[in-house]
Amino acid sequence: MKIGFFDSGIGGLSVLHHALQKLPAEQFLYYADVSHVPYGEKSEAQILSYVDAAVDYMLAQGVKAVVLACNTATSVAAASLRRRCPLPVIGMEPAVKRALDLYGERRVLVAATPITVRGEKLRTLIERVDSRHLADMLPLPELVRFAEAGIFDAPEVEEYLRGALAGYELEQYSSLVLGCTHFNFFKDSFRRVLPESVKFVDGNEGTVNQLIRELDRCGLHEHGRQSVEYHVSGKYTPEYIAALFARLDAMSLIG
Ligand code: DGL
Repeated sequence: MKIGFFDSGIGGLSVLHHALQKLPAEQFLYYADVSHVPYGEKSEAQILSYVDAAVDYMLAQGVKAVVLACNTATSVAAASLRRRCPLPVIGMEPAVKRALDLYGERRVLVAATPITVRGEKLRTLIERVDSRHLADMLPLPELVRFAEAGIFDAPEVEEYLRGALAGYELEQYSSLVLGCTHFNFFKDSFRRVLPESVKFVDGNEGTVNQLIRELDRCGLHEHGRQSVEYHVSGKYTPEYIAALFARLDAMSLIG
């Protein structure tokens, strides 16, 4: 049986990219809600209904577990989904705790979508893990639009990031938390605008580790040949998806 991976668009591929390395005997189904992307600027009620529909679609495809490979969907919908969904639901949240654990002596910048930044879930997390008030929030909605338009390493991306970061004393920061799965595609542009000392932290490893723990706990591991089925609109051709994975390979080398 397949593991369903869900995102509003291409962002979740960055989580899938990591899962493919860690789970060589699993079958995956990747579903992107491309008719509603970007989620980060929609209302919570809209996102709840989109995620419900997407999960119902994946359940109808017979998945054995659902990975919300989207911080925004997790922020808004994970709790209600877990109440009604009979399968393991693995979500993701900005890796603020990991950043503070690794680099907690200095400030941490948490970049995410506007909905995630405003959300109750992130506020609760910050209250729990950031007792020294070291984390600052940075909404970056345009990056999702750039990503969905296939614009990555481009002058307009760099200009946008320079503008968004202009008000920060960047030398004070130890790390940038990539709190939206789309942002992993932009590590080269981030690298150019951030001081070398600012490290990247994302939630992909934590989410895949949690998925593995759930598969262990429920005895759901497969022992077959790895495969991925993409359930996305025609916009993402197999060639385009291959190019996106090549980009993620390159981004994974940027520390
Ligand atoms: N990739 C998503 C996330 O991790 C959301 C992007 C969007 O649709 O705004 O937050």
